Amino acid sequence: MINKKVKRIEQPISALGVGCWNFGGDWDNSNDDKSVEIIHAAIDLGVNFFDVAPVYGWYHSEKVLGKALKGGLRDKVTIASKCGLLWDENHKTRNDLSRKSILEEIDGSLSRLDVDYIDIYQLHWPDPNTPIEETAQTLLEIKEAGKIRHVGLSNFSQADVEKFEKIVPVDCQQGLYNMLERNTSSYHNIPLEYKTEDEMLVTVKKYGQAFLPYSPYMQGLLTGRFTRERKFSSTDIRNENPKFFGETYEKYFSGYEKLAAFAAEMGRPMNEICVNWLRQKEEVTSIIGGASTLKQLEGNVHAMTWDIQPEEMEIINGIIEPFRYL
Ligand SMILES: NC(=O)c1ccc[n+]([C@@H]2O[C@H](COP(=O)([O-])OP(=O)(O)OC[C@H]3O[C@@H](n4cnc5c(N)ncnc54)[C@H](OP(=O)(O)O)[C@@H]3O)[C@@H](O)[C@H]2O)c1
Repeated sequence: MINKKVKRIEQPISALGVGCWNFGGDWDNSNDDKSVEIIHAAIDLGVNFFDVAPVYGWYHSEKVLGKALKGGLRDKVTIASKCGLLWDENHKTRNDLSRKSILEEIDGSLSRLDVDYIDIYQLHWPDPNTPIEETAQTLLEIKEAGKIRHVGLSNFSQADVEKFEKIVPVDCQQGLYNMLERNTSSYHNIPLEYKTEDEMLVTVKKYGQAFLPYSPYMQGLLTGRFTRERKFSSTDIRNENPKFFGETYEKYFSGYEKLAAFAAEMGRPMNEICVNWLRQKEEVTSIIGGASTLKQLEGNVHAMTWDIQPEEMEIINGIIEPFRYL
């Protein structure tokens, strides 16, 4: 494994992490025993970073991660969880970053993960109804109480990051970033208040923050999991991504096909190209990709054994140039 060290976080972090969303049951392929097996195998392969959130599987992913880390594994890993997304009985989500809600959420996450502290506590999405000062002061309070070690912001505008930074250090940022979504303006049907490559990475570098690119495989499109006619099961969360339908899907799929043709020329699998394109960027700390099988995880870790060469990178960057702002 290759580890990365950033100024704001003391422990080195594995360049490949594991995103735990698909351990919660919202995707096609999850079952708890398999998820625990993947988490253990990841640690054996040198992965020390796990990204999770209460909303993944409606608390289930945090419980699965907590169960997997029992028996002495907790101290070997960095756990990044989140707050700020609540839901009703129909699983309709809403944003809440009020003091009252964060104080309840942190204790819930500590209990489900069965840990004393969370290494990186991230605000999942902005909450326009709560003043930044209230949220930032609450984060400072739970940090001083020892419940969290670092604060992270996910999906925030860089102007807001600067406002938080004046009250509580923002040591980590998380944003949508992969070869075909570099400065994209939406995630599912949610407009994004940031341009990842042009804005977020600039702040990350300025402060020496960790940066976690999410959906690094574009939910599986970039690894060749989809066909042109792809069909997900009716419960698969990917049905909610409008980029996987109609003309937009056609654009992304043809981008994938061009990349896959070049990958074949290079003699490298697409999943490894996704990992290395991200890993070879200075600002990228841990790639929090999901893996639904052990084989996928092992394949992604294998990307650590080689680098994309400069002349290959130039060709790849040429292929993805039309997607810079898509
Ligand atoms: N902060 C946020 O708002 C936010 C939003 C989304 C995600 N995230 C985080 O980012 C993590 C990852 O993002 P994501 O789940 O959206 O998508 P992703 O990592 O881009 O895609 C995961 C999917 O890619 C496929 N895959 C992975 N490795 C593969 C391989 N070696 N070969 C073939 N296929 C492979 C699998 O698809 P199949 O399941 O079809 O096999 C897997 O489920 C999440 O778990 C979560 O922690 C954060």
